[in-house]
Amino acid sequence: MTPRPIIIDTDPGTDDAIAIWLALASPELEVLGISAVAGNVPLPLTERNARKVCELAKRPDMAVFAGCSRPMLRPLVTAEAFHGGSGLGGTDLPEPTMPLQPGHAVDWLVDTLMAAGDGEITLCPIGPLTNIAMAIVKEPRILSRIREIVLMGGGFFAGGNITPAAEFNIYCDPHAAHVVFNSGVRLTMMPLDVTHQARTSRERIAAVRAIGTPVGVAAAALMASHGKREAQDRDKDGGPLHDPCVIAYLLQPELFGGRHCNVRVNTASEATMGMTVVDWWGVTDGSKNCTVMNRIDADRYFALIVDRLARL
Ligand code: RIB
Ligand code: CA
Repeated sequence: MTPRPIIIDTDPGTDDAIAIWLALASPELEVLGISAVAGNVPLPLTERNARKVCELAKRPDMAVFAGCSRPMLRPLVTAEAFHGGSGLGGTDLPEPTMPLQPGHAVDWLVDTLMAAGDGEITLCPIGPLTNIAMAIVKEPRILSRIREIVLMGGGFFAGGNITPAAEFNIYCDPHAAHVVFNSGVRLTMMPLDVTHQARTSRERIAAVRAIGTPVGVAAAALMASHGKREAQDRDKDGGPLHDPCVIAYLLQPELFGGRHCNVRVNTASEATMGMTVVDWWGVTDGSKNCTVMNRIDADRYFALIVDRLARL
């Protein structure tokens, strides 16, 4: 079977790291490259963390590019409280020796997509959408080359995690999200409504740690660190493992369920800045621009992560 070509756009980020490892461990996917963006922590850290993660998975050959260091219009808001000052809280991965690729990630995204066939490449943004939106604005012709954008971001009935109304990736760069959600590209969205059902636990973390490899031990430490920090529901065990949902969907879409809806991003009022307005009940005549996921088989999701990370 021909592997599905994907690009991961990311702000590592404890959960981003696990998403990257899941993709690198899965022969169903061909990771064409990784574009780093400012988000959880500033760009110098996200690009370095992306290289640390690739090297730990014995993939020093992976092309990692640095992208935008701030959102399109708003000042950068980071999330060290959730991810630690380094962005990879709970671990001390070796400094990378693999090089950062020369050139800007946005230019690499445009060049790679323009060289691709129609509908050939799947984009997997798991951080703020700045790089993706800038590439679309710079060269709109890339849209025909994109098979699908599967993104982690947003929320509807689950509300927000950085403000009461907004999820971090969308809140961080709401104008970029507006560009992406209005691009007309096939969109699949993993909002908090689904990722909050995919929570780590002592047992789930222990299963990852039991893999016993450097990746397994590091992944367990990242999950434990993130779980402690993202105490969304203090009575709930563990934190939501957001970003690997994007990769898991590409590998086993049957683990997920959702609905085709109209989704708009608020960029007008500060109180609800970055809110994803999901017309779940179809009460408007807005075009259904996105498949919004709200169900996951969490046990099979974590089993997939253990199975695949053990291969690295
Ligand atoms: O709100 C969760 C998202 O914000 C995840 O992608 C996490 O890594 C942070 O970027
Ligand atoms: Ca992320």
